[in-house]
Amino acid sequence: MHSETVDFLIIGSGVAGLRAAIELAPHGSVLVVTKDKPSESSTEYAQGGIAAAISDEDRVGIHFEDTLKAGDGLCREDAVKTLVEEGPERIIELISWGAEFDREGMKLALTLEAAHSRRRILHAHGDSTGKELERVLLTKVRSMPSVRKYPYALTMDLVMNGNECHGAYVLREGEVTALFARATVLATGGAGQIYARTTNPPVSTGDGMAIAFRAGAALEDMEFVQFHPTSLFHPSAPHFLLSESMRGEGAMLLNVHGRRFMEDYTPMAELAPRDVVSRAIISEMVKTGSDHVYLDLRHMGAKFVKTRFPQIYSTCLLYGVDITADLIPVSPAAHYIMGGVKTDLDGKTTIRGLYAAGEVACTGVHGANRLASNSLLEGLVFGARAGRAALNSSVVPEKRTRPEFRPETVRECETIRNRLRQLMWEKAGIIRCGESLQEAKQAILSWEGITGQTFLSRPELELKNMVLISGIIVEAALRRRGSAGAHYRTDFKERGEGWERHVTWDRENFGFPVAPFS
Ligand code: SIN
Repeated sequence: MHSETVDFLIIGSGVAGLRAAIELAPHGSVLVVTKDKPSESSTEYAQGGIAAAISDEDRVGIHFEDTLKAGDGLCREDAVKTLVEEGPERIIELISWGAEFDREGMKLALTLEAAHSRRRILHAHGDSTGKELERVLLTKVRSMPSVRKYPYALTMDLVMNGNECHGAYVLREGEVTALFARATVLATGGAGQIYARTTNPPVSTGDGMAIAFRAGAALEDMEFVQFHPTSLFHPSAPHFLLSESMRGEGAMLLNVHGRRFMEDYTPMAELAPRDVVSRAIISEMVKTGSDHVYLDLRHMGAKFVKTRFPQIYSTCLLYGVDITADLIPVSPAAHYIMGGVKTDLDGKTTIRGLYAAGEVACTGVHGANRLASNSLLEGLVFGARAGRAALNSSVVPEKRTRPEFRPETVRECETIRNRLRQLMWEKAGIIRCGESLQEAKQAILSWEGITGQTFLSRPELELKNMVLISGIIVEAALRRRGSAGAHYRTDFKERGEGWERHVTWDRENFGFPVAPFS
């Protein structure tokens, strides 16, 4: 087995991973491992923007309150305070590194999104904010000679010594390499691919959460999965995201009969929190016997729409939908996991030498439902904090590789993946109940063997991670006998006793075989 030693290992190159790398670069060698090309991450696809209280009409205290309200009582207040207080500083820093946010005259242009009580969303090139962040952070990283990228390498498992992380085993071109480091930062993003409908890119298969869990780390809040209300409903479009900022600018939701319906559900109408809007859409689809509703921008004027949402305009046009003139068929899709690897405010996990930041992590900042456009901000703020904390890791990596092993194979890997995704969508999606979750659990249990096997191919390793993370989500959703935020059970519509507790999972309290690789 090949091996290599660096000071700091970062797994993932979205906003959180790159921001951590920038923090670590002056202090030692940094290796950024990605399973695809470095720019392929959820960050790259983020459209709407990044929220921060930077205008004269806004206050961090108001951003704090809005975040808590969307989180439906389950946010950890110290994490939210850290996010909203440090956010503006991180954004100013980003501008000083060359970020070009849209402006109105000399002032930054700020838009509104659901559940924000102020216009506080910065955006770039209209609707390509994530791309701009990725560009700036990658450029910054390229100027730092101590940072190296290691693309097309899938992290299989962590190198563990007791409860200490000494690096990771990665698979590249069929070969396993042990990468040793005194600190390892997980920034692998989310797990949207476990659902048949998702706005997430194909790389979002829950790898970071799964490898941390197999190594013994605790995961938290896994029942809280956010569904974005509006993804393009088109047979050949991969659930392309239609940014919330469209509703922020005045777009309306209509049912298939052309009737505006959101006010029937909440006085906040189209600008209610995402979980509320997604459930209202599902109810309206059931009422009208349809598989979609419509987003309507026709009243906003073609010139404005084309300038404000250029990427969405041109992408939809490829699918034959002119968003300036047509009703846009939409339906919800899995978008973001509020839960993840449990960390403190400095990204420290329950394993020594292992840090996590961004969507893979759970600081509790999003509670039961993330406020729109808080995720890029989370990546910046907590990525920087995790980087700073990783500097102080006292782990001395022991360069011991495991013996070679015999890889196994899964028959019908692609078929199981598709079945799992459909199952999660139907039984553990936007609206759940004990019965549907039990059905999901039984099906997942029939695949549980996969979670204990050793594989040497990306599709099989991804499936192993997807089955494990799906199992944890279903178990967590069964355990929470109540509804809060994005977790809604028809058999327990109220919050239920002990609703304010955060549910934590680790190898010891979970039933699957999760033998670590090392
Ligand atoms: C969007 O543009 O609607 C996505 C932004 C987010 O997920 O916060």
